[in-house]
Amino acid sequence: MLSIQSIRTFYGPVQVHHDVTLEVRPRQIVSLLGGNASGKSTLMKTVLGIVKPRQGRVMFDGADITGRPTAAIIRRGIASVPESRRLFQGLTVRENLLLGAYSRQDTQAIAEDLDRILTLFPRLSQRLRQRAGVLSGGEQQMVAMGRALMSRPKLICMDEPTMGLSPLFVDQVLSLIQTINAEGVAVLMVEQNASLALRIAHHAYVLQSGRIVLQATGAAMAADPRIQDAYLGRTETAA
Ligand SMILES: Nc1ncnc2c1ncn2[C@@H]1O[C@H](COP(=O)(O)OP(=O)(O)OP(=O)(O)O)[C@@H](O)[C@H]1O
Ligand SMILES: [Mg+2]
Repeated sequence: MLSIQSIRTFYGPVQVHHDVTLEVRPRQIVSLLGGNASGKSTLMKTVLGIVKPRQGRVMFDGADITGRPTAAIIRRGIASVPESRRLFQGLTVRENLLLGAYSRQDTQAIAEDLDRILTLFPRLSQRLRQRAGVLSGGEQQMVAMGRALMSRPKLICMDEPTMGLSPLFVDQVLSLIQTINAEGVAVLMVEQNASLALRIAHHAYVLQSGRIVLQATGAAMAADPRIQDAYLGRTETAA
């Protein structure tokens, strides 16, 4: 479905990715692990056309989307829940959610999708008219996820969805990711908390200084001593 092929990206003269190759199959949750500054967010931005690789390709559903305009990539079926959520703080929850459907014209279906998303995130129903800026971190994360779903994506890219959330919300966000995935949406997810990420991932990759150094199923990765030493030993589990 999504195939990142040997990409090299740069910020000016500084190379971030060294021939990174990664695959997300339909209906998969793929987790991308890696320390600070390893290039995880830049990889997400490359998928979304925000950063253009100097070499390599990004293929989605058989089409070459490398460096295409972000709006065109979203229309093809990729949505994003960016790092730190990026909501419009001054707009209401409802307005933020509807922004996710900005490229759609099917008003009736948009209204149905909004209803469906509110069943998924019941907390948001009472808050539709409030400004997004007054919501808690966990509620804002739900708005960001709901906004992504409003474009009816086949794939959602999530950059650190549980960052800064209380343990209760961390568990809620993770089970919501599984619910969304069970409805047929593939997920590419960056998560610093490896033990949480591997609990729900079908497949996982480890990025280190811009190189993929390991890949395995989520379960195999969780059992890998190298991963336990490097990531699981040090991470705090929310549970
Ligand atoms: N807009 C930019 N201009 C120049 N350098 C950048 C830019 N964005 C990121 N970088 C650099 O590229 C490298 C990779 O950054 P990136 O944000 O992709 O890492 P990350 O794995 O997401 O890190 P973190 O875990 O801290 O979120 C870092 O060295 C960072 O300083
Ligand atoms: Mg990042």
